[in-house]
Amino acid sequence: MHFGVILVCLLITVVAQPTMAAKFTWREWWKNTIVYQIYPRSFQDSDGDGVGDLKGITSRLKYFNQIGVDTIWLSPVYTSPMADFGYDVADFKDIDPIFGTIADFDDLIDTAHNLGLKLMMDFVPNHSSEEHEWFLQSKENNDTNNPYRDYYVWKDPKIGCNDPPEKCVPNNWVSVFGGSVWEWEPKRKQFYLHQFLKEQPDLNYNNPEVHREMKEVIKFWFEKGVDGLRVDAIRHMYEDQDMEDEPINPEYTPVPGERPQYDSLIHTKTADLPELHDVIKDWRGIFEDFSSEPNYRFMVTESYDTHRALLPYYGTPNQPEADYPFNFGLTELTNESLSGKEIHNKVQDWMKDLPGGKWPNWVIGNHDTARITERLGIKYARAMNILNLLLPGTPTTYYGEEIAMEGIWVPYNETQDPYAINNPNHWEEYTRDPERSPMQWDDTPHAGFSTTNGKTWLPVNDNYLTGVNVADQITNQKSSLALFKTLANLRKTESSFQTNHLKYAIVNEQIFSFFRLSGDSTLLSFLVIVNTGDSPSTDDYQTALMNDDFVVPGFGVVEVSSGMDRNGDSVELNKISVASGEALVVKVQVSFGNKASVTMPCIIVIAIMAMMGVILQDFFPLQI
Ligand code: NOJ
Ligand code: MG
Repeated sequence: MHFGVILVCLLITVVAQPTMAAKFTWREWWKNTIVYQIYPRSFQDSDGDGVGDLKGITSRLKYFNQIGVDTIWLSPVYTSPMADFGYDVADFKDIDPIFGTIADFDDLIDTAHNLGLKLMMDFVPNHSSEEHEWFLQSKENNDTNNPYRDYYVWKDPKIGCNDPPEKCVPNNWVSVFGGSVWEWEPKRKQFYLHQFLKEQPDLNYNNPEVHREMKEVIKFWFEKGVDGLRVDAIRHMYEDQDMEDEPINPEYTPVPGERPQYDSLIHTKTADLPELHDVIKDWRGIFEDFSSEPNYRFMVTESYDTHRALLPYYGTPNQPEADYPFNFGLTELTNESLSGKEIHNKVQDWMKDLPGGKWPNWVIGNHDTARITERLGIKYARAMNILNLLLPGTPTTYYGEEIAMEGIWVPYNETQDPYAINNPNHWEEYTRDPERSPMQWDDTPHAGFSTTNGKTWLPVNDNYLTGVNVADQITNQKSSLALFKTLANLRKTESSFQTNHLKYAIVNEQIFSFFRLSGDSTLLSFLVIVNTGDSPSTDDYQTALMNDDFVVPGFGVVEVSSGMDRNGDSVELNKISVASGEALVVKVQVSFGNKASVTMPCIIVIAIMAMMGVILQDFFPLQI
């Protein structure tokens, strides 16, 4: 067969069709996965001290096989005084005794790999704990022979200030957790900078030694077999060396007598400084050094920012950085703002500005954000799982979302989260305790999380006794967990969910809906609809989807409904009715329309070629 003909046919086909069959290479395993975030203190306690640990996690790994999750990410388990529950690391290369030992970690990773699971760790490069050996040495003195002298960001009191030196902070910068970023160190007689708690001094990335040390940390965990890293608080890595004040945020209204809050300033000097991209590129080199078939090392960066500020963390085709920065758009939805249009805005923000060749991702909750059940209400827990798992790209799910866990209420005097404790005027707004309550496994005491005779570190939500637990839901065909499993399976088996093709269908105040076209020649596609309104809505999706490329039939079949009560129902596409809070996934067998039919002969030629042994993947490994 003539090679030129094949090439022309392929080109026409690619132009006319938005997608081709997706087949992920070994470097792309993370595109075909669900990332499940484990908050280790709250997942499973094995030794009865009321706090989760590594052995506990290992004992639960088979659960992930059962529910169709194949990547887990652990929030920090490193040695830590736990001022910020592990995000204050005192030894980047060891495990905190509360979680177990390095041997427990080795066992965890081996067991995970044997079960076909990937394991990601948290990497916290911006700061260490004040109890890290580097900081203990650094704060001793500023002598040139102190090798740790410049490991942190030190600064003299402000010149010209007439107050005692410890009151003369170098500038107006404010920490994320409130109050000045500067803390006086009496021994060294200087201030050190902390963008989070004072117990979390920022590392100094203007010191090459710090780069070297942190690269060793990455290597250490890769040598242990870790499959990827979630990089914490990346936008805070560098501060402007001129150390000038940051501009006041005119939209912020200060509360009299309250310590300065992060939002009171515009962070031109302390966030998203361009030089941090060089560091990520440098790290990417290490990830590459440790990537050989079949083990690609995956990187996701974390910062809370606008989508425009986040997208640069993807890097460029020539200089890749993270595989993706977390997209927190959907976590910003609130009950007040929820509408079909608002969801559309959040989805479109990411999709329309996504750099060429890059892969989208979604998050609906994590350990820093109120659970979806709190923000939107329990009514939307299932619909949001449908969005998270069926929008194009990789979803991250936070433990308990699959069983629609709800937050807990903890009074101020029992609050654990330092962010809340340090800001008593805002504590209910800031506290992250509610979303960190223990995982609900069954209806035995402490929901099967712990065998302690005392208290668990945070209380368990009582609703574990009324069906919000894994054991009850795993056998219930209509449960949230059954829905989650069905969605996980769809992602794996249907090519429509393996490309980044997305076409919006009907979008209005009430409805957000989109269409995922088949990624292969079967054209078996899916329509996903969410009703955010207070009443049912009946709409004509057939007309909304019809175009030159494809003919949309009159009927479709509900593949899965959020209530798991309409699965298998036939629906007329020109009048699909969706209840308030409901979401539907409708299977639609489209066929070629006018434009696509021009390319039909080419597709037949290509199919014949494929049968004759010409592997299309060699020409176009993955069209996204
Ligand atoms: C982001 C983490 O998600 C959060 O929990 C932590 O408090 C800060 N980074 C500081 O490390
Ligand atoms: Mg324990």
